[in-house]
Amino acid sequence: MVIKLKIKNKLIFAADLDNLDEVNNILNQISNLINTVKIGYPLVLSEGIECISKFKNLGYNVIADFKVADIPATNKKICKITFEKGADAIIVHGFVGKDSVKACKDIAKKMNKELFLVVDMSHPGSRQFLEKNSKEIAKIGLELGIKNYVLPSTKPKIGLEIRKILGDEAFVISPGIGVQGGEIKKTLKFADAIIVGRSIYQSKDPMTTTKKLINHINLAIS
Ligand code: C5P
Repeated sequence: MVIKLKIKNKLIFAADLDNLDEVNNILNQISNLINTVKIGYPLVLSEGIECISKFKNLGYNVIADFKVADIPATNKKICKITFEKGADAIIVHGFVGKDSVKACKDIAKKMNKELFLVVDMSHPGSRQFLEKNSKEIAKIGLELGIKNYVLPSTKPKIGLEIRKILGDEAFVISPGIGVQGGEIKKTLKFADAIIVGRSIYQSKDPMTTTKKLINHINLAIS
């Protein structure tokens, strides 16, 4: 597995709140348990792109979940700006086609940053279009030499199938645990780390919830 990010406890916190104070409040409670934060549109559109550098300054790895899905020239600009703002990695859609993904891959390589390719998604609607093409998207990733992928924990059978296509060298992160119904044990059979949002930030006791998640992770991989 070739990845520069070292994800503590195989757990990525999805900070999908629209309020930075609330995110910081959660992070204060779980800061010794996780080191990687995934931020996306809810937080950035509410609080600004500077959230990235704020989390970087606190010592976190930052994955920008912008699910980039535009023409190559625009994709390149989105990735470049996101990396310049300090993100370690960006999440990019594959359904837009190889040229659009390649534009992201090239700029990530040039700037020595990471790119995660979304092969499939975790929500029911993903069955309508994305799932039908997920294997083709995985192949695009392989052809481009992409190492990092996002696969849904809500579809463990597909996760295993796609992991076979991607091979052991791929690094897979997986959302959909908890609220969306994904299970840690099944997920870690094809994924290297899990992404959890609501189960942590909607919990009455985020620290205890996160500790329990980590216990489950450790049991699953033991
Ligand atoms: O709250 P929950 O734990 O369900 O959050 C899952 C996170 O993973 C959200 O940020 C969602 O946007 C993201 N995600 C997903 N499915 C994908 C890629 C990202 O659920 N395929």
